[in-house]
Amino acid sequence: MDYTLSVTKKQAAFIHAEADEVLYGGAAGGGKSYGQVVDAFLYAVRYPKSRQLLLRSSFPALERSLIMTALEIIPASLYKYKSSKHKMRFFNGSILEFGFLSHDADVVMYQSAEYDVIRFDELTHFTEYQYLYMLSRLRGTSGYPKRMKSTTNPGSRGHGWVKERFINPAPPNTVFGTEQTRLFIPARVEENKFLMEKDAAYLSRLMLLPENEKKALLYGDWDIFEGQFFGEFSREKHVITPEEIPSYHKRFRSLDYGLDMTACYWWSADTEGNLTCYRELYKSGLTLSEAAKEIVEMTPKDEKITYTVASPDLWNRRQDTGKSGIEIMAAEGLTGLIRADNRRVPGWRVLREYLRGNKIRIFANCVNLIRTLPSLLYDARSPEDASDAPHEITHAPESVRYAVMSRPPLPTVKTQKAGRFTPGELQDFKEENTITIKKRK
Ligand SMILES: Nc1ncnc2c1ncn2[C@@H]1O[C@H](COP(=O)(O)OP(=O)(O)O)[C@@H](O)[C@H]1O
Ligand SMILES: [Mg+2]
Repeated sequence: MDYTLSVTKKQAAFIHAEADEVLYGGAAGGGKSYGQVVDAFLYAVRYPKSRQLLLRSSFPALERSLIMTALEIIPASLYKYKSSKHKMRFFNGSILEFGFLSHDADVVMYQSAEYDVIRFDELTHFTEYQYLYMLSRLRGTSGYPKRMKSTTNPGSRGHGWVKERFINPAPPNTVFGTEQTRLFIPARVEENKFLMEKDAAYLSRLMLLPENEKKALLYGDWDIFEGQFFGEFSREKHVITPEEIPSYHKRFRSLDYGLDMTACYWWSADTEGNLTCYRELYKSGLTLSEAAKEIVEMTPKDEKITYTVASPDLWNRRQDTGKSGIEIMAAEGLTGLIRADNRRVPGWRVLREYLRGNKIRIFANCVNLIRTLPSLLYDARSPEDASDAPHEITHAPESVRYAVMSRPPLPTVKTQKAGRFTPGELQDFKEENTITIKKRK
């Protein structure tokens, strides 16, 4: 008898993923858990006598979701399910075991186990310790591909470590790492046509969630947390796959130099003033001349850079040499530097306008900017300023601040500068916003 299963494009990408560790993460309802079960089923059939473990953080959650889905979609003639042991034994000897891990100490249950594939559903519900411990249980002599495959929504207790492990280091859908490779596949709820057909109202229900949860569950946005300075930053809106830049666009660079970090960005500006950040130099320990040399080397000869806007302190003369930073950099061929407008609060405000108006786009290869911009925190003492701690995450955003401040003012920024927001206006603005949302519903 023929048996067909349909999967979404992203589910297929998850199934065919070639990395040692794969995370399929994002919006709720994207089809992640379903994809996990289909993948486990296909692996079991393809690799006789293989052993797989599918984990949740509690047993009731496992039973409600994954086990039910598995019993539903896998043809009953292909396996026997032993419910006391939560094990599915397939006709070819393969085993799919369902398990849970609540506390760190629970890992001892798997102390002597060996698996070809371990699957975590809702990875952010687990601790990093649990994950790393289970990673050591991937072993055995079967010769089959050994993999960790996880699915999750953003949020929950494991949000931080999961983001650090899978999302921060590289653009999505790109295998990274050398010895142990990893891959992050983002999920969006609209990609799940099965759900959209069955329950289109699901989207509107997600729309009603509080802002932070809505970001996590509806948009699958990883850049959520309290105290975030640039809440308007969104990978969906601001990060793009590198593309050809039209030759008539103006190009310039922004540079925040420090021995602890050189953060240089290459920009293009279109005729409407939209900015695209297309290249990144983010490196610690560079002397002034080394930084200048790298910037020059990273810029193709035929790329016409109009100017480089840089930290004002480069114009100071240094006691020891009597030379200024820009003189030292010029000696390495980095010329055309202009002094940045270094006012912090107005600069952040302008950057915020760029983000809100979607007038800034960042190539996915600028990984440190994409990592640090949404990580920037509010300064506890000066509510319109960003915090200078942790210091490491401030360099790229400051460089970007120089960049936007070097551009002609945006029309909206002008009006804001002319008349400041009063608390009353802010109130009106909020109310207006709420009404639009209500109307949409
Ligand atoms: N390929 C598919 N075929 C049929 N139904 C699917 C498929 N993928 C997902 N679904 C259905 O869509 C809904 C949401 O999927 P689920 O895997 O639970 O999403 P997530 O884990 O991302 O929140 C479920 O009802 C699931 O059965
Ligand atoms: Mg799920």
